[in-house]
Amino acid sequence: MLSPRVAPPVFGLGLLEAVDEREILSRADENDADGDGISGRPNYAWNVVENKKTLGRFGWKAANPSLLQQSAGAYNEDMGITSFVFPKESSWSQSHMMGSLMSTKISDSLLQSVAFYIRTLAVPARRAADQAEVLAGKKIFTELKCVACHTPRMRTKV
Ligand code: HEC
Repeated sequence: MLSPRVAPPVFGLGLLEAVDEREILSRADENDADGDGISGRPNYAWNVVENKKTLGRFGWKAANPSLLQQSAGAYNEDMGITSFVFPKESSWSQSHMMGSLMSTKISDSLLQSVAFYIRTLAVPARRAADQAEVLAGKKIFTELKCVACHTPRMRTKV
């Protein structure tokens, strides 16, 4: 079986992590109460560090609560490297290693540095933002209500 993947961009995520939970929850509309044809609900994901479920923000289906856990998960499942967040080997590619504590482990400070890097990687400046053709596209994007989910503006908490 072949399942192609396109990795999503990793910049700007620190800004998303800094958005207040209440800001996100205020946009939930599970039963489409406002009748715009779009429903959405928050996902609560297991937060390994806090040892409880917290609001999911990252990854497909918001399955990850923090950039630290997202980074540790990428090390663990994409690269076979463990850390203090995920101390056991994941079995995705080598089932005989499932749960093994013998794999390569990164230091806490290296993982924290990678999470810091992901958190602070800036969003590139928009190109040609005031060109007529771009503005026409922006107008259509708004008219088609793509912005109902692709929120044009959110505030980070102060
Ligand atoms: C009901 C909510 C919703 C609406 C409405 C919506 N999108 Fe999306 N869109 C999403 C979600 C959620 C993702 C991310 C999917 C994923 O990667 O898991 C996404 C992803 C995308 C992506 C890929 C972004 C990337 O970084 O890979 C593009 C491009 C996109 N949408 C364009 C549009 C356009 C154009 C419209 C309007 C015609 C639109 N979307 C309307 C929810 C929506």
